[in-house]
Amino acid sequence: MKIQIKTVNEISPSQSVVCIVGKDEIPPFISLTKIEKGYVLRKLREKVDYVHVNSYDRSTYFVLANGKLPAFRMLEELRKNAATMKKLIKSNSHKELVIASDGMYNGAVEAFTEGLILSIYSFDKYRTKEKDDEKGAFPGKVLLYGINEKSKVEWLNILCEAVYKARDLINEPPAYLNASVLAREIRKMGDAAGFSVEVLNKGKIESLKMGGILAVNRGSIDPPVFCILEWNPHEKVNEKPIVLIGKGIIYDTGGLNIKVNDYMSQMKADMAGAAAVAGVLYVLAKCRIPLHVIGLVPATDNRPGGNAYVQGDVITMFNKSTVEVVNTDAEGRLILADAISYAGKYKPGLIISIATLTGSAAMTFSNKAIALMGNAEEKFFTKLEEAGNEVYERVARLPFWDDYRELLKSDIADIKNSGGREAGAITAGKFLETFTEFPFLHLDIAGTGILKKDDYYRTKEGPGSGLRLLAVFLKKLVEENIIK
Ligand code: BES
Ligand code: MN
Ligand code: ZN
Repeated sequence: MKIQIKTVNEISPSQSVVCIVGKDEIPPFISLTKIEKGYVLRKLREKVDYVHVNSYDRSTYFVLANGKLPAFRMLEELRKNAATMKKLIKSNSHKELVIASDGMYNGAVEAFTEGLILSIYSFDKYRTKEKDDEKGAFPGKVLLYGINEKSKVEWLNILCEAVYKARDLINEPPAYLNASVLAREIRKMGDAAGFSVEVLNKGKIESLKMGGILAVNRGSIDPPVFCILEWNPHEKVNEKPIVLIGKGIIYDTGGLNIKVNDYMSQMKADMAGAAAVAGVLYVLAKCRIPLHVIGLVPATDNRPGGNAYVQGDVITMFNKSTVEVVNTDAEGRLILADAISYAGKYKPGLIISIATLTGSAAMTFSNKAIALMGNAEEKFFTKLEEAGNEVYERVARLPFWDDYRELLKSDIADIKNSGGREAGAITAGKFLETFTEFPFLHLDIAGTGILKKDDYYRTKEGPGSGLRLLAVFLKKLVEENIIK
């Protein structure tokens, strides 16, 4: 399923082409008969999503870009068009496919390509038979016409590759992918891309007294891990590293506060934050982005085993503060909190946590936005919003007032691990914030990171939420001299 993306400077008359047009005109590099052209123009004037011309030995597809929309939304429509067209494209079994445009809109070719590549992902490891509901084959090569900057194509290639890897990690059932296997897979990604990976085992986690991770792990037969990923290139522009922290709950049963009804069904994806962090490091290293970035991935499953932690327990965390457990299903923040305190040892310029943290974020924004909150400088919020619009992983900011800390007051410990249902996403963020003195941002991907069905090119279960967002955000920090 791996597709090569390349650039070409000309199109031969025998090649199949997707041509994105900004107006109802046929660009000169497209060869069609007069009759075919007449048909295309008629269709384009009807404002259909796309037109398909089936010539004897090839296909030509036209996609009309909607120039009335703001650019970033028009590009998203093209990604979605690609996803809508993927079945038709597959059924025509092209060996290679050219993606071209009339040049009216910047980024159109790349956006369509991205949508196509991301939408044809499927997790087939456990299939012993072919899917029988779809005929044909996807092109093995996608050729981008008229893109002169090789670096753009390379970026796109690596970004899609990283999303595929993250999705594989998320979709992998926990019977195979326990915490240790996750660590091994992350190490493989590090070896392939060139970032370093250190894995702290249970003994080390115990000697560091990471009480949050150990408490959540108590109901499990599998040991926890704490992965430290690092990309520290010589040519880095930042003195203080950026630390990304991904929630690595292998499977969230809720623990003794067990999840009921259908709430447990997709909880193998509760490590989507971890997958995003690994994917981002992969992109940074492969593209040699000159930024010092550390990824921390605490990982364990959350289960009601024999010695599982219970409501009423008080945990001493890595930073020596105490937490009253009022709900064993609020486990993500416990493992993240230890990682967030641990991040202090790097004296980071910015800490960003990313996690499928609360049903509340999903209830608030559905799958349309990542909940963003934090106390970092305003410029970081602005850049995340920009990056979010660009890749269309949009972020929506929640208030982060200290007033919300009141909901987390405990009678017997420094803080409790849940403030209840009201403002659940915010109180989870405020809980995390108490574990660091360094600038902090938090992304709750509970709504976007786990999908019941495909949402165009965001494939179901784990679409890889937050990966493209953070990769583009970090690249922007370098390119726009935002960070020193
Ligand atoms: N992993 C869940 C959050 C979640 C829910 C992600 C639905 C994706 C879809 C998290 O560990 C959790 O259980 N959160 C609880 C917290 C509550 C007990 C304070 C929640 O949101 O209900
Ligand atoms: Mn939970
Ligand atoms: Zn969880």
